Amino acid sequence: MFRFPNLAWPKRILMALALAVLLASSGLIAKPKPAGHYGYGKAATAAEIAGWDIDIRPDGRGLPDASGSVEDGEMLYEDQCAACHGSFGEGVGRYPVLAGGEGTLTEARPEKTVGSFWAHTSTLFDYIRRAMPFTQPSSLSAEDTYAITAYVLYLNDLVEDDFVLSKETFAEVAKLPNHGNFTPDPRPDVDAKRCMKNCKDPASVRITSEPTILAEEVAEDTPVKAASPQEQGAEVYNGACAVCHNQGVAGAPKLGDKADWEKRLSAGEETLIKHAIEGFQGQSGFMPAKGGRMDLSDTAVAEAVKFMLAESIN
Ligand code: HEC
Ligand code: HEC
Repeated sequence: MFRFPNLAWPKRILMALALAVLLASSGLIAKPKPAGHYGYGKAATAAEIAGWDIDIRPDGRGLPDASGSVEDGEMLYEDQCAACHGSFGEGVGRYPVLAGGEGTLTEARPEKTVGSFWAHTSTLFDYIRRAMPFTQPSSLSAEDTYAITAYVLYLNDLVEDDFVLSKETFAEVAKLPNHGNFTPDPRPDVDAKRCMKNCKDPASVRITSEPTILAEEVAEDTPVKAASPQEQGAEVYNGACAVCHNQGVAGAPKLGDKADWEKRLSAGEETLIKHAIEGFQGQSGFMPAKGGRMDLSDTAVAEAVKFMLAESIN
């Protein structure tokens, strides 16, 4: 007949077994570790990481050790790029234009090219290396990417025909002509001060259309100095008033037109503020209430008017 053999085992062995099972299941005894946190996948090798880690910073950090000349770039570009982007970067059909367009950004149909719009040569190098030619992305060697990048700069009159682009010469062309013209977006829902340290808990951030309140909230949590009334006035002006008052659109008195503003000020600052808040039909045109930005507080508009007076008269 069948017998339970373990019934005959001494108690000590049974207890040792039970303890071992307990320890093993509790993880107190080291088990061989499976790869990856959840037991699958494998650690990336250095070579795999190097393959992915190809980003380049605006100052050129991350560039590969190689170089390429405008001269070599011309042939490569003709072969691999011109069919779509045109021999002079003019764009074939509806393919993107890569050169020209300087001074067109403020026109109704701006031509945004590497020379007229882009900020950094690092973007150009990276874009070409990752995404072009369109049908064979990531197929270019480091040398060819340098040469073609140099040639696209040449097509934009940014380098001479004997230029050689490399890690060393990169600094000479790191910033493209439009580099300085990128500014924080002034629309109300993004009108916050940039925070680089001791920043607000993201969970507490709310979208608001009141720049004045935002400035105060930021000041509460950070050691950064709160924007002064003048700074707030300038900010409101740039976001809501400059569109008409910088150039005198639709009869608006121009910022800095001393004579015009002095004449208006004879009615008193309070009247000018009232007109700016409530709207005003005058001799030269129509000033919409708060410049059409009803989300602005009366105080914010008043600061903008004071800023305009200070800029124009003093
Ligand atoms: C088959 C057509 C084709 C070829 C060949 C081609 N491109 Fe492009 N290129 C495109 C298209 C399409 C886009 C827009 C892609 C997009 O917006 O997603 C583009 C975008 C670009 C841009 C960005 C333009 C901008 O202002 O946004 C650059 C720079 C560029 N290509 C460079 C090159 C270079 C250098 C080569 C040759 C190595 C090349 N391209 C070959 C079709 C092509
Ligand atoms: C859509 C165009 C436009 C915008 C935007 C605009 N203004 Fe005006 N503004 C005008 C025009 C036009 C006048 C001239 C009215 C007149 O005297 O005939 C004017 C006049 C004024 C005056 C003088 C009023 C007076 O009594 O002489 C002030 C002050 C003023 N604007 C402030 C502002 C402020 C502050 C903002 C932004 C919050 C702003 N404006 C935005 C068009 C604009």
